Amino acid sequence: MSSDLSIPSSIRRFVTGESPAMLIDGAHVPAVSGETFETLNPATGELLAHLPAADTPDVDRAVAAARRAFEDGPWATMKPFDRQRIMMRFADLVEANHEDLAILDTLDMGAPIQRMRGNLRRAVGMARFYAGLTTALRGETIANSIPGDFQTQTLREPVGVVGAIIPWNNPHIAFIWKVGAAIAAGCTVVLKPAEEASLSALWLGEMLLEAGLPNGVVNVVTGFGETAGAALSAHPGVDKIAFTGSTATGQAIVRAASSTLKRVTLELGGKSPNIVFKDADLDLAVPGAAMAAFINSGQVCSAGTRLFVERDIYDDFVSAMSAYSQSLTVGNGLDATTQLGPLVSQTQLERVTSYFAIGRAEGAAVSSGGERLVEGDFASGYYVAPTIFTDVHNEMRVATEEIFGPVVSVMAFDDYESVVRLANASPFGLGGGVWTNDLNKANRTVKALRTGTVWVNCYGQMDPAVPFGGYRMSGYGREGGVQHLDEFLETKAVWIQTH
Ligand code: NAI
Ligand code: MG
Repeated sequence: MSSDLSIPSSIRRFVTGESPAMLIDGAHVPAVSGETFETLNPATGELLAHLPAADTPDVDRAVAAARRAFEDGPWATMKPFDRQRIMMRFADLVEANHEDLAILDTLDMGAPIQRMRGNLRRAVGMARFYAGLTTALRGETIANSIPGDFQTQTLREPVGVVGAIIPWNNPHIAFIWKVGAAIAAGCTVVLKPAEEASLSALWLGEMLLEAGLPNGVVNVVTGFGETAGAALSAHPGVDKIAFTGSTATGQAIVRAASSTLKRVTLELGGKSPNIVFKDADLDLAVPGAAMAAFINSGQVCSAGTRLFVERDIYDDFVSAMSAYSQSLTVGNGLDATTQLGPLVSQTQLERVTSYFAIGRAEGAAVSSGGERLVEGDFASGYYVAPTIFTDVHNEMRVATEEIFGPVVSVMAFDDYESVVRLANASPFGLGGGVWTNDLNKANRTVKALRTGTVWVNCYGQMDPAVPFGGYRMSGYGREGGVQHLDEFLETKAVWIQTH
C-alpha cells in the first residue's frame, strides 16, 4: 500500500518511537511512576510512540496546577479581549500547522488524510468561534416584585477546573471543541486524550502555550481510561467533567462524579436512524446513506447505522448502495485516494468483526462486505470492508448496539407512522436523517424524531455555531453553538437594595 506523504519534521518527534512528555503546568513531564504505554499506527501496526502512563499522582499534579491557575492565575480574571487575543493566536497556529496536524492524526488513528484535511475549516472555525465567545458572556437584569427597591441581576461565572476526557475518532477536533469552550468561559482544564490517539493533544497543548496561554490553564495528561480517566472523574478538585465516548464509560463517569456532585456533560454513542422515503432523490440518497454509516470507517458517534428504506424502492436501493460501497477505496489513510482507513485498534477490529458473526447468527443477510480485509498490506493493519446487513429487524443486536465500524443495518418500512415508531425505538437519540422531496413529510419527520440532530437530504454536517448533543442515552448537554458556554458557567443571582 503506497503512502504519498512523507513525515513532516514538525511531527517527527511524536512518531519515531520516542517518549513525548505530558504537559502539566506548562512543563513537559513524564509520569510520576515512569511508566509508559505504546501507541500504534493502525494502518500498519507499527509503533509510533511510548507515552507517559498517567495515574492518580499525575492527575493530582495536573488538577493542582489547574486549580492554581484558576484561583491565583490570571486566566479567570483576565479581560475578555485579552483571552480572545490568546485564543485567536491559537487559532492562527492551528491554521498554520493544520496539514501537519492532519497527518499526525492520520498516523495515530488511521482516518483518511482527505478527511483530516477536510477538518481545517471546522478546527480553525471552532477556535475562532470560541475566541469570539469570550466577549459574549453576559448575565441579566431581572425585574422582581418584592416590596422596596431591590435590583436583581445574574452573573455568569466559570465553573472552575474542568476534566475533559475525549475519544480517538477525531482527535484534534475533539480537543479544540472541548478546550475552546471551557477556556472561553474562563475555566481551566485537565484534558485526557484517548490512549489510542493522544499525540495531537500534546501538540495542541504546546500551541496553546505558544499562543500565550498561562501555565496550568490547559494540562494534558496521557493514560488509560480505567486509571487516569477514572482518577480525573472522581477527583474532588475537579468541578466538571466534559466527556465524549461510549455510553458505558459515560455511566461510569456519572457514578464517579456523584461523590462530589461535579457537573457532567456527556456526548455519548448512538444508533442513529436514517430514513429514505420513496420520493427521495436517489442519486443523493444512495451515496448519502452509505457515507452516513461508513465515513471515518463508521467510527462516528452520530453515524446513520439504522437505515430505513421504503419498501417499494428497497431492493433497488440496496443493490445501488452495495455497488457504491464496493466502489469505495479502503486503504492506508496517508494515501490521498483512500476513502476509508483502518479501524483504530486491534480491540475495535475484534469488536466490529464480532458483529459480522452476530448479525449472521441473528439471521441478517450480508449484501456487501462482512469481512476483515487481509490480502497483502491489509494484513498488518485493522481493515474491514464496508458492510451492509439486510433483512434486519430493529430488535437485532446489529440494529440496537453501537458497532462503531463501517456497518449499516437496512430495514424496509411500509408507512410513515411505522417508520417513525421504529426510528424512535432505541435508547439512543443522537443523530437522524430523512431523505424526501416532500417538504411536509420532511418537516413532520424532523419533529417526530427524538434525536439531538436531524439532517434532511444530507447527513453529518457540523458547524461550530450549531449545537450538537444527544437525547436520552446519547448524553446530556450541548456542545457547539453559543449555548455550549452555558455548560462551563455557573449562574449567580445578586440582590442589591437601594436605600
Ligand atoms: P471509551 O468511552 O471507553 O473511551 C473514551 C475515552 O474515555 C477515552 O479517553 C478513555 O480513556 C476514557 N475512559 C475509558 N474508561 C474510563 C473511565 N472508567 N473513567 C474515565 N474515563 C474513561 O471508548 P473506547 O473504549 O475507546 O471505545 C469503545 C466503544 O465506545 C466504541 O466501540 C464506540 O461504540 C464507543 N465510542 C463512542 C464514541 C463517541 O464519539 N460517542 C467515541 C469512542 C468510542
Ligand atoms: Mg494510536
